[in-house]
Amino acid sequence: MQEKIIVLDFGGQYAHLIANRVRRLGVFTEIHAPSAPVSELAGAKGIIYSGGPASVYAEDAPDYNPEILSLPVPKLGICYGHQLLATQLGGKVQPGTVKEYGIADLQVKDPSCPLLKGIPASSPMWMSHGDRVEVLPQGYRIVASTKDCEIAAVAFDEKKIYGIQFHPEVTHSRYGMQLLDNFIDICGCERNWNMKSYLPLITDKIRREVGDRKVFLLVSGGVDSTVAFVLLNRVLGTERELGLHIDNGMMRLGESKNITDFLKREGMNNLLVVDASHDFLSQLEGITAPEEKRKRIGATFLTVKDKEMAKLHLDFNQWMTAQGTIYPDTIESGGTKNADLIKTHHNRVKEVMDLMEKGMLLEPLADLYKDEVRALGEELGIPHDLVWRHPFPGPGLGVRLLCSDGKGTFETNDSTPGLGEYLQANHIQGRILPVKSVGVQGDGRTYAQPFLLTTPSLDWKACERFSTELVNRFKTINRVIWQVGSVSDEMPVLTEQYATAEHFDELRKFDDICTRFLRENHLYEAIWQMPVVLTPLRSAGKPCIVMRPVNSSEAMTANFAEIDQQLLQGLWQRFMAEGAGSLWYDVTHKPPGTIEWE
Ligand code: XMP
Repeated sequence: MQEKIIVLDFGGQYAHLIANRVRRLGVFTEIHAPSAPVSELAGAKGIIYSGGPASVYAEDAPDYNPEILSLPVPKLGICYGHQLLATQLGGKVQPGTVKEYGIADLQVKDPSCPLLKGIPASSPMWMSHGDRVEVLPQGYRIVASTKDCEIAAVAFDEKKIYGIQFHPEVTHSRYGMQLLDNFIDICGCERNWNMKSYLPLITDKIRREVGDRKVFLLVSGGVDSTVAFVLLNRVLGTERELGLHIDNGMMRLGESKNITDFLKREGMNNLLVVDASHDFLSQLEGITAPEEKRKRIGATFLTVKDKEMAKLHLDFNQWMTAQGTIYPDTIESGGTKNADLIKTHHNRVKEVMDLMEKGMLLEPLADLYKDEVRALGEELGIPHDLVWRHPFPGPGLGVRLLCSDGKGTFETNDSTPGLGEYLQANHIQGRILPVKSVGVQGDGRTYAQPFLLTTPSLDWKACERFSTELVNRFKTINRVIWQVGSVSDEMPVLTEQYATAEHFDELRKFDDICTRFLRENHLYEAIWQMPVVLTPLRSAGKPCIVMRPVNSSEAMTANFAEIDQQLLQGLWQRFMAEGAGSLWYDVTHKPPGTIEWE
């Protein structure tokens, strides 16, 4: 049996992130429900208890099988997991006096603890919790602390149980990977997991699931579905797979053509291309709510698919539907039992769930993270440039064109107590904008307003600090953007804006300028993804656009990327020449902002 580390999913978004990190260190991981019978966890060389949004004492705390504790393997509790292990062993958890969200300085108290090997005496680690362990069980000792949290890391050496209040799995925790690597050593695992060894496993799995049926795959044009298409071609052959690329009218400039040209060039002629932009745009008429837009886009993909299948007289019982869903797409849609709904991914709408229930859905990449999909793509011989394209969401520019009926009540600087004083004390200017975007905080969804920093010369460090502080202090604000340039000093005006072909053309134009800007300045691969958002705000009657460059490895967490501000001025000149009113730069990490605005 394959050696593995089990991650128990207590519903934090971070559960899968932990699994991804451990895999990246070369050890296979599997995610299980905490209520799983111990027989399901056979082969585990170690168990990691993830974080999660509940409180260990809450009525709605996830079900947990206490027998797991008696499995004779090392255990690491993270955040909620740490609190749960402590209470199980006789400790006490209480709501802390301050909720801690953000980077804290971890001070190592016992450098000889095997979990902390190689971690400096002081280093930044990411905290995100309200509750904390107040009384330690017998046998536990404190091995590291932060200013606000004395019990930040504990060890129960005899039983090889460790607990940490911070999140080693997020990139903000500088030595988080080191800590997880140390846990792998404690578990005594071999490091032999990689995409070369995964390819035969996934090949078998696809063959088993498909049986003698055939597969119909929606090829959105993004990296994931391209890899899925090539993989299925390899495993099933061109006779048993048919790809459908639906141009939904929300693609990037030239994107549909690039990808379909490549696949055809490679001899994969089992790909159909249909222009269904009219079907999609007519579904979005007059719709402004982000979740509703996502649902309609997701559902339309399936109606178009059914229409095309019917045209081809394909037997629905013979043809499974496949899509390039990857792990994060399933979890952020509330796909695992304990996860909170943050956004409905287009591949997790009701119609898709129905197919899944009937055993008619194939998701060959659903266990993988983006970095693994890319590694698999390279393993399959897909050219580097295609594999390393920026991730592009299924609903495409549909989630980057913010819609509005031009009305609505919004908070302002004046209606936000303490904001004026904060700005004055920090010698900065800016305003809360009358528009909303989705974010994620403490594992839950937020839908709130951005704060626009208009102070002209602010370095990125300052932006980062103000961004963290503004979101933490003012509930109204879940995102902070910085003004690269604007044609007007006046408050931007909210206007009516719907998902129409004209607006998509406008967004496509600015998006393309940004992509070219990245390529010309050799930044394209240095930046993980850069959504460009057309807001319904206008400065002097002209559109206000947000650029959101981020660095991430798996999209569950992200840092805003830093681009030279001189270069940005050049970009703003181009934007102005093309009729933009303002160019804003998103300086929010994820969390608390999501990567996309909707
Ligand atoms: P968020 O906005 O949730 O995005 O931080 C995380 C990553 O997922 C992509 N994304 C999607 N991908 N279907 C997709 O295939 C979707 O509905 C969808 N929504 C977001 C997003 O571009 C980012 O890379």
